[in-house]
Amino acid sequence: MQDDEQKNSKACLILALETSCDETSASVVADGRIILSNVISSQVPVHQKFGGVVPEIASRKHIENVIPVVDQALHEAGVTLKDIAAIGVTHGPGLVGALLVGVSVAKALSFATDIPLVGVNHLEGHIFANFLSHIELEPPFMALVVSGGHTSLVHVKGYNEFELLGQTRDDAAGEAFDKIARVMKLPYPGGPYIDRLAETGNPEAIAFPRALAGRDNFEFSFSGLKSAVLNYINSAVQRGDEINNADVAASFQAAVVDVLVSKALQAAQRCGVKQVVLAGGVAANSGLKRKLQNECTRAGLTLYYPDIILCTDNAAMIACRAYYQHLIGDHADLHLNAIPSLKLGSK
Ligand code: KG4
Ligand code: ZN
Repeated sequence: MQDDEQKNSKACLILALETSCDETSASVVADGRIILSNVISSQVPVHQKFGGVVPEIASRKHIENVIPVVDQALHEAGVTLKDIAAIGVTHGPGLVGALLVGVSVAKALSFATDIPLVGVNHLEGHIFANFLSHIELEPPFMALVVSGGHTSLVHVKGYNEFELLGQTRDDAAGEAFDKIARVMKLPYPGGPYIDRLAETGNPEAIAFPRALAGRDNFEFSFSGLKSAVLNYINSAVQRGDEINNADVAASFQAAVVDVLVSKALQAAQRCGVKQVVLAGGVAANSGLKRKLQNECTRAGLTLYYPDIILCTDNAAMIACRAYYQHLIGDHADLHLNAIPSLKLGSK
């Protein structure tokens, strides 16, 4: 314990808060890479009965949970606010009412203690989750960010230098998973249920469309695929045909995965990077990890993806991102605000 205390007193400790959607999370991370605590209070059971996140309920639950979660994160790390070098907080993108809870608490803590405040972009946080799972990882690399709200290809040139190559024109990959799952009467969030069902189905059973497949097109579109799957299910129901849910799940997932993998590889080749990094909630998808791993190995690229607990929303990834901003003095003042559509690489 004394060794731990000595180590912590020398380390640069970041306390971070994450409240952008339906997880209230706080974490303490040492030197940007070592997780001392990562407390995640999930609201999934609360929103499940509505089939999706209800923003107003999410904000209220964050208010109830946030202080106990911060207390627990400090307690589990064995530190107090006096040991903290900077406070990081997600200030976008996300649900405005949900973001405001974390931002207000972080600003109040910073004001009361004089600890510097760092405003973190949630998507950059997802990418940085990989630095926690892979201590050896360093930029440059190509990041494929696939979450409930975003699907983007980002050339990470340095710890603070990002180039957005392309993103989705309509639905995010995770959103498509959740909408298809809902029609198939699977619980919310549907991604993990489709993933499991797909393992037992035939990915070639139904030929669903692959949109924007052209070379060097780094934009995505999943709304056409979503409609195609819904039409397939509705037509079968009207005809009274029995639907093989596992085949639908496997064929849908294969269509998503094919597009994600081929664009990620083309983007890596175009930018001349040798490393590919997967990030966001959909990075937990087993079919995606398998195919991306195979294709990266074939192309001589090294693939990284976060431990499963760090794929979905958590404050440890926000602390990691905040650490690298803190190192270059990228601090926010008390005007820091929630920005629901905050763009990657912008303030
Ligand atoms: O990154 P995240 O926690 O929240 C956002 O920032 O959006 O991602 C949540 C998304 C949900 O759409 C969920 O269905 C999806 O990640 N997801 C998965 C899997 N696990 C979570 N999608 C496919 N396969 C999975 N195993
Ligand atoms: Zn997220």
